[in-house]
Amino acid sequence: MKKLLCALLTAALCTLSFGGFALAAEADVGIVLPTKDEPRWLQDQARFESVIADTDYSVEVLFSQGSSAAERTNVETLIAKGIKILIICAHDAGAAGLTVETAKEEGIQVISYDRLITGTEAVDYYVTFDSIAVGEAMGQYLLDNAQGTGNSLYLYAGAATDNNAFLFFEGAWNILQPKIADGTFIIRNSSEATALKDQYALTRDQQAAIIGQITTDWDFNVAKSKAESNLTAVAASEKGLCYVLAPNDGTARSIADVFASDADVNGFYVTGQDAEIASVQYVIDGKQSMTVFKDTRSLAQDAMDMAITIIEGGVPETDTAYDNTLIEVPAKQTPVVVVTKENVKEALIDSGYYSASQFTDLD
Ligand code: BGC
Repeated sequence: MKKLLCALLTAALCTLSFGGFALAAEADVGIVLPTKDEPRWLQDQARFESVIADTDYSVEVLFSQGSSAAERTNVETLIAKGIKILIICAHDAGAAGLTVETAKEEGIQVISYDRLITGTEAVDYYVTFDSIAVGEAMGQYLLDNAQGTGNSLYLYAGAATDNNAFLFFEGAWNILQPKIADGTFIIRNSSEATALKDQYALTRDQQAAIIGQITTDWDFNVAKSKAESNLTAVAASEKGLCYVLAPNDGTARSIADVFASDADVNGFYVTGQDAEIASVQYVIDGKQSMTVFKDTRSLAQDAMDMAITIIEGGVPETDTAYDNTLIEVPAKQTPVVVVTKENVKEALIDSGYYSASQFTDLD
């Protein structure tokens, strides 16, 4: 509360010094995104900007630069601007709980965007892609390209502070676990996952134990050094043709570069998600095998439609619900599309998501 008063006071002082008697700039909807350092969130920003251009409501977008403290300050700034709806993609699912509770106390409705905020009742709605389907698509891709038994599997995951990292892993495990149990794949880089290889449904704690070992923290450098140490730790016979579950495009490019430069790796399949421009080029060039396209146009539109429905007194449409460890949060879910070299043009260029001029060697 003290911090909130401070933010309000600061906003009032700014108003006085700039505009005499003018009111502080107000916003109806506040949007908080996790970081500008990952192209994924710049896609969302761009899509929000075009949705915002079409609405009469005032909207402000702020970035938290991978910091829960900055995220809290952003939310306080937006509260001071009188927002009615907060759309927030949290940096850390647990830490964001207290922040959204502050917003809730001010009568603001909270929409979790892409990443579910956990352990709090202060989340009204969730707008998301089907994250289990993302993981399943990755697992299925690897499986579709495997032959015989004993295929070397390397597992990587997102940040343990992101609920999505659990959903992506769960989806991949749904597909891969039976094929690890029957010997199609052999896990080469996780003793925790190997110990659980005969168990299809994992508890959250078991998932956390595996993710703790294979996490990239959503960080390119962590992904790179983890892949390097994994390949250093195994014998040449455990390399050869490799199957690599990489959790998103940024980490996929780092991991792919490491596998590509290892003399004992003579081929690899690597997954990804987000259809980041750099990874789409990697897919075209055959350096990354696939990406899962999550059309941020739909997500931004759904989130804004939901916000406007609430402002105008309606009840937003939802089609599912997600357990945030405390409550079932009503959710609107968007499907995803698998993109490989074969359908890259149709999925990403013909759909108007990107233009052909952003890529080379696209035929
Ligand atoms: C998002 C992914 C993204 C990752 C890292 C996840 O929560 O769903 O699209 O790649 O965070 O930012």
